Amino acid sequence: MCGIVGYIGKNDNTLEFLINGLKSLEYRGYDSAGIAYMTDKINILKKQGKLENLDKCVNYKQKSNLGIGHTRWATHGAPSENNAHPHMQGKIALVHNGIIENYEKLKQKLIKDGYKFYSETDTEIATALIDKMYNQEKDILKALSKCQDIFEGSYAMGIICTDDPNHLYCLKKDSPLIIAKSTDGYFIASDVPAILKYTNKYYLIENNEIGKISKDNLTIYNHDLKEVKKELQTFDLDLENAMKNGYDHFMLKEINEQPFVIEDTIAPCIKDGKQSLRKEIPDLSKYEQIHIVACGSAYHTGLVGKALIEEFGEIPVSVEIASEYRYKKVFYNAKTLVIFISQSGETADTLACLRKVKEQGIDSLAIINVVGSSIAREADKTLYIKAGCEIAVATTKAYLAQSTLLSLIALNIAINKKKLDNVLVSKIFDEMKKLPSLIKDLINQDYKKIAKKIYKKEHIFFIGRGIDEAIAKEGALKLKEISYIHCESYAAGELKHGSISLIEKDTPVIAIVTDEKLASKTISNIKEVKARGAKVILIISENLNTESDYYDEKIVIPSVNPFTQPLLSIIPLQVIAYEVALLRGCDIDKPRNLAKSVTVE
Ligand code: AGP
Repeated sequence: MCGIVGYIGKNDNTLEFLINGLKSLEYRGYDSAGIAYMTDKINILKKQGKLENLDKCVNYKQKSNLGIGHTRWATHGAPSENNAHPHMQGKIALVHNGIIENYEKLKQKLIKDGYKFYSETDTEIATALIDKMYNQEKDILKALSKCQDIFEGSYAMGIICTDDPNHLYCLKKDSPLIIAKSTDGYFIASDVPAILKYTNKYYLIENNEIGKISKDNLTIYNHDLKEVKKELQTFDLDLENAMKNGYDHFMLKEINEQPFVIEDTIAPCIKDGKQSLRKEIPDLSKYEQIHIVACGSAYHTGLVGKALIEEFGEIPVSVEIASEYRYKKVFYNAKTLVIFISQSGETADTLACLRKVKEQGIDSLAIINVVGSSIAREADKTLYIKAGCEIAVATTKAYLAQSTLLSLIALNIAINKKKLDNVLVSKIFDEMKKLPSLIKDLINQDYKKIAKKIYKKEHIFFIGRGIDEAIAKEGALKLKEISYIHCESYAAGELKHGSISLIEKDTPVIAIVTDEKLASKTISNIKEVKARGAKVILIISENLNTESDYYDEKIVIPSVNPFTQPLLSIIPLQVIAYEVALLRGCDIDKPRNLAKSVTVE
């Protein structure tokens, strides 16, 4: 989850390039930051805390045309200046994203070789190993190739060497890294936003490849140090897309982008003027069982997909938390499909599950936002959501686009299995096309009054049944991750089996009621918590909005078909989470302890 940048080129404003790049990557990790740049020697500057602490110490008059930078999300060793990257051992300075899993064993050997360590990090050990191999081989490429055979775990690394002031080196395994080409040099970065200000041209470096970059040339080598030819590619993102364009926070910008994102997601999938789906939506009706594997909000979209695929496609679906699925015994057969959902396409646990599934020869389908990401590249088939660059750690537009794709997948199965009558199919397509404007109207409602009522609370509960429980889970995660209020979601019918003991006078309970078949049951559960003093905030679809004595606040959302309904229910919960976090003065785009992409297990 760390952010890496590097620059080498004709321009001698390296320090400015590094800090700007790190600023756009700060969402990846922000408990310390540092830079290393070449003059007649390697200079290192690093600070604990937010990037601004480093920025204040940089002397931008200092000229250099080679450097590396890093923002850190601590994995080994507490957030501190000592543990901040870049690390330097001997002649090697290095920035790293990932985990060197065998660092303890390597450390003991290196201490015997006379190395002394000042930090608690695995990265410093990696730096020393590269230095040791360089001293043996007297050639950095050979040294890096030898280290590839020794390192266990994941890494994306930027490296500079005292003896070689004219080259920047990089290598990767299972952590994201791109090499971008600008008019006056080259950049390396963990993610696109770091370089968009300077170029949209890039090369993809693969696992176990090594990049050797001078100010006007790039050579990529395979593990055997044979040159590998690469295509120069172009991002279709623009800088404006990666910036806030007038909103106070990326999260608010991304919430407001949702109507456009859903338009871009749906339009290519529905045949013009027809009630049918294009081939962009795969037909999964041949499968006998589907596993959906993901983490966090992506997992919650899987629950939406499960509810729709099972109800209307009649295929059993199990939704799995990747960090559990990775190590558990899993039962497949030739008619099993495993769907991997990930915004970043780099989540370590999800990627590991994809590799586990591929080893078993099981079909894999990925639903991904970041083009060219590891999961996207390794799955048998990848469906890209067109959510654009999502910067806020708390996902909104990507979550909604993933849920929309899963809804279309479920619809495609139901149509191909002839489970839906034509009248309902027409209604579904009509309402899918109206979805962007329905979402826009919901975003623009005023949720401040509700936010004011709950922002000082310590505990808030979310309840629902069926697909509404999936929405309750996502609503709880959204609110807790940016407001730091303790939020939990429960299946409404489960409350009386223990959790209802937590309800006391004025405890806020946010209840979602949109499933007609289950509404009366959920409303009974709401009355149970109301009777025990809860303050009920009801989110209900218009057609079910009949009684008025069991809630304190009510948000009525349009009643639409079951494939579209969950794509509306979540909107009020996203905006309420944002408004509450705003009132609490939280760092909405960069919540404490979190990172946008969890690329370590
Ligand atoms: C959601 O708001 C969080 N950012 C987090 O739960 C996220 O959904 C999870 O880490 C999965 O990330 P991915 O979609 O990039 O795999």
